[in-house]
Amino acid sequence: METSSTLIGPFTQLVSLEGLSLKGAIKDELLTPISNAGVLVKDGLILKVGDFGELSQESDQTIEVEGSQVCLPGFVDSHTHICFGGSRARDYAARNNGKTYLEIAREGGGIWDTVTKTREANADELVVGIVRRANRHLTEGVTTIEVKSGYGLSVDEELKMLRAVAKAGEKIAPNLVPTCLAAHILPRDFHGNHGDYLNHISQELFPTLIEEKLTNRMDAFIEEEAFSSAITTEYFLKSKELGFDITVHADQFSSGGSEVAVNVNAISADHLEASGQKEIEILSKSNTIATALPGASMGLGVAFTPGRKILDAGGALAIASDWNPGSAPMGDLLVQACVLGSYEKLSNAEVLAGITFRAAAALNLHDRGRLVAGAKADLTIFKTDHYNEIFYHQGKLKPSMVFKEGKLVHSN
Ligand code: NIG
Ligand code: FE
Repeated sequence: METSSTLIGPFTQLVSLEGLSLKGAIKDELLTPISNAGVLVKDGLILKVGDFGELSQESDQTIEVEGSQVCLPGFVDSHTHICFGGSRARDYAARNNGKTYLEIAREGGGIWDTVTKTREANADELVVGIVRRANRHLTEGVTTIEVKSGYGLSVDEELKMLRAVAKAGEKIAPNLVPTCLAAHILPRDFHGNHGDYLNHISQELFPTLIEEKLTNRMDAFIEEEAFSSAITTEYFLKSKELGFDITVHADQFSSGGSEVAVNVNAISADHLEASGQKEIEILSKSNTIATALPGASMGLGVAFTPGRKILDAGGALAIASDWNPGSAPMGDLLVQACVLGSYEKLSNAEVLAGITFRAAAALNLHDRGRLVAGAKADLTIFKTDHYNEIFYHQGKLKPSMVFKEGKLVHSN
């Protein structure tokens, strides 16, 4: 059946991000917004971006936008843990009363507490939680959301989580990108060591992940309290043989994970709060996207990922929320990206690139994150007359409209 084209606009400014490089620093002068712009859409994809008046000659129908509005690509959150049960408000209070994240974990709080609560939740309850959080994200302009497992930590419980992500994805406008994080921590009820556990997971869980197409991404937490570099490398090499893309929780409290990420040619290395000059250099020379998680720095009250140094060394910097009940409970991507920008002296262009096409690349997705012909028509729109205002308000200015694949899915 022949489908018709729709023109959306006019926008006071549209920032397409066309032609900006995946790696390295970006000066704001390169943003070159289009004035009085329109987006011509067909079948959920962008046909053309350009002058609204000119495009109106070509379109079958128009969705008119009123007043001063700035159009950006829909945001991509490339790292979250929004499938979980329970709350860790007690941990947060304990940390602010002087306990460390690792001390709390050793005393039975931390990730294991969330594992217990997530196991207690049934699949439908998990779906409700994911849908609620993803829909909140949508109102804040996020149209693609990565979601990790990692609070199940047994074959059946990891499957319960990933099936819940798949089910939630059918109910909502944002795209969910699932990732298996069975290698989060060694579960307390597993009889065996870290190596035994990862062997068990790769033998017993991987085949079902592939069969049910539950995910094509594998993640692991490399840290003293979690998994060692050597054991994780072996696990990742096995995962790669089966076709999984790799992403790593790297250098959060101590360095080591980023080197593994580069060695196995991971798509992304995330966290990097503890990365030093050596790690920054090897990452920046590689194809692995460095992902800053300012929400985790804010949640834990620790230093930010050295984003400025990574960009100046020529690296690719994505910015994600890490939304999770423990280290990053806030989950507001734009607030966090703007705050990181202010502390790390990132240009508005670098902040925007970090939550759009660079974050999409961190998910190995190249069909979104820029407003260019052929890309998904995912649009995040703000009622203002200049894109600088959006960053200046540090995320407090929320989108007036969000379009997912050409359809209006949120308006305010
Ligand atoms: O990305 N670092 C490990 N994992 C998560 C935290 C998960 C949790 O505390 O529940 C993170 O910060
Ligand atoms: Fe995380």
